[in-house]
Amino acid sequence: MSAIPVAAPALISHVRAQIETGEDPLGVAFCSLRSPVERRPEGATYTPLSIVKPMLAWAKRAGRPDRVVDPGAGSGRFLVNAGRCFPAARLVAVEVDPLAAVLARAHLAAAGLGSRSQVLVADYRCADLRDFVGSTLFIGNPPYVRHHLVGQRWKDWLTKVAAARGLPASQLSGLHVYFFLATLEHANPGDYGVYVTAAEWLDVNYGALVRKLFVGGLGGTALHLIEPTAVAFPDAITTAAITCFHVGAQPKSVRVRRVAALTELGALDAGRSIRRERLATADRWTPLTRGARAIPDGCVELGEVCRVRRGQVTGANAFWIAGDHSGDLPQGVLFPTVTRARELYRAGRCLVDASRLHCVIDLPEDLDALEQEDRHKIEILLRKARAAGVHRGYIARHRKAWWSVGLHEPAPILATYMARRPPGFVRNLSDARHINIAHGIYPREPMSDRALAALADYLAAHTSVADGRTYAGGLTKFEPREMERLLVPSPEFLV
Ligand SMILES: C[S@@+](CC[C@H](N)C(=O)[O-])C[C@H]1O[C@@H](n2cnc3c(N)ncnc32)[C@H](O)[C@@H]1O
Repeated sequence: MSAIPVAAPALISHVRAQIETGEDPLGVAFCSLRSPVERRPEGATYTPLSIVKPMLAWAKRAGRPDRVVDPGAGSGRFLVNAGRCFPAARLVAVEVDPLAAVLARAHLAAAGLGSRSQVLVADYRCADLRDFVGSTLFIGNPPYVRHHLVGQRWKDWLTKVAAARGLPASQLSGLHVYFFLATLEHANPGDYGVYVTAAEWLDVNYGALVRKLFVGGLGGTALHLIEPTAVAFPDAITTAAITCFHVGAQPKSVRVRRVAALTELGALDAGRSIRRERLATADRWTPLTRGARAIPDGCVELGEVCRVRRGQVTGANAFWIAGDHSGDLPQGVLFPTVTRARELYRAGRCLVDASRLHCVIDLPEDLDALEQEDRHKIEILLRKARAAGVHRGYIARHRKAWWSVGLHEPAPILATYMARRPPGFVRNLSDARHINIAHGIYPREPMSDRALAALADYLAAHTSVADGRTYAGGLTKFEPREMERLLVPSPEFLV
């Protein structure tokens, strides 16, 4: 007789006892049987209980699901703990690796959850999860696998499924991006979820799809960044992100925070609120989570109240700012525009009269929309532009129609952003446009004239060069996102 059957009963009761106390000895065995290098192609990095538990604590406070789905379940850590939290819920594990799936089955059975569990050995992206009536909690750790290991068939799937939602997808996306999209495909409004992933998608180009899903259909409500020092995953030193969502929700604001230690996670209910629109307009999200600072009572960051937008780049100011060279043009294509910072400094508190400003020539993309007589004048202008090579400039080549500058709407407040002095903030009462020598400050919700004037005055009086970024030579610059971090009174104190 071999030694295994003799050792087995004791070993089995030992493993069962460990499972009963909430440990995952089968998952630990899996990770010691397969080295990190062997596990990497499937993205099999198992989640420590110090992350699983806070995620479940949040899920428990946020709802009572009829079903829990764990995409890429591994040995079933999330699912077994979910089964204990939600005693009536159906438990569904989806796992592509048959060995891990067997362990998940054993884990669920030993924990006494077998009768309400199902382990699907399937690819999560095409798993059949639709046939269910009731609410679902999606919880887990989608696999992190780089795009090189994702087959072309799946890349085509990503492009097609994202396009059906009107979203672009990058072929460089990692597998976790597919899981976010598949979740939305599987989910119904009212379902909710919480995933832990590497935080990369917050900032990289391919992550744009997840960012759009988060502020769109997925209904992201909170983001918790775990600093690398907290070592979220023993196999990988990386910043991790916990993403909480309520499918179909469009919350006004989203909670964001960073934690330096896993013990700080709590029930994932802390964090500062930032408006969802702010995330929607930012290309990189990590800066928005940084430097969470104490905000005095009665104050908010400017970005909570207003969007700051750099003025349009013309690509050839010498041509598109009207002058003698442009001849006689129809009024409809000439827009009084702030084209120099000094025009704002000179205006003082309010820009009332735009008649002293230069005009920018802004032609429609569709020139057929012009009257016949105007069209003739514009043709003459465009011939001059071509002769001067304006159509070959970088900006001209990269816009929809090379001749159409596309000025932004008039901003109610205009600001200078690069000078050896604090920025000027000017209430724009003249509907002047602005090019990229100024930022436009646009309220996110309608604001009264009084409130706008009070906001501009407050910014002018309280913004110093120390708030911006100073370059050699003393030039201080405020990028739009930096300007959005200026503290201003809450809107109710501005009226
Ligand atoms: C990061 S691990 C998470 C395991 C477990 N949920 C945990 O957190 O401990 C990701 C799991 O997804 C599985 N996986 C990878 N690709 C998959 C796919 N296309 N469909 C379903 N599961 C997949 C891997 O085998 C691995 O077990």
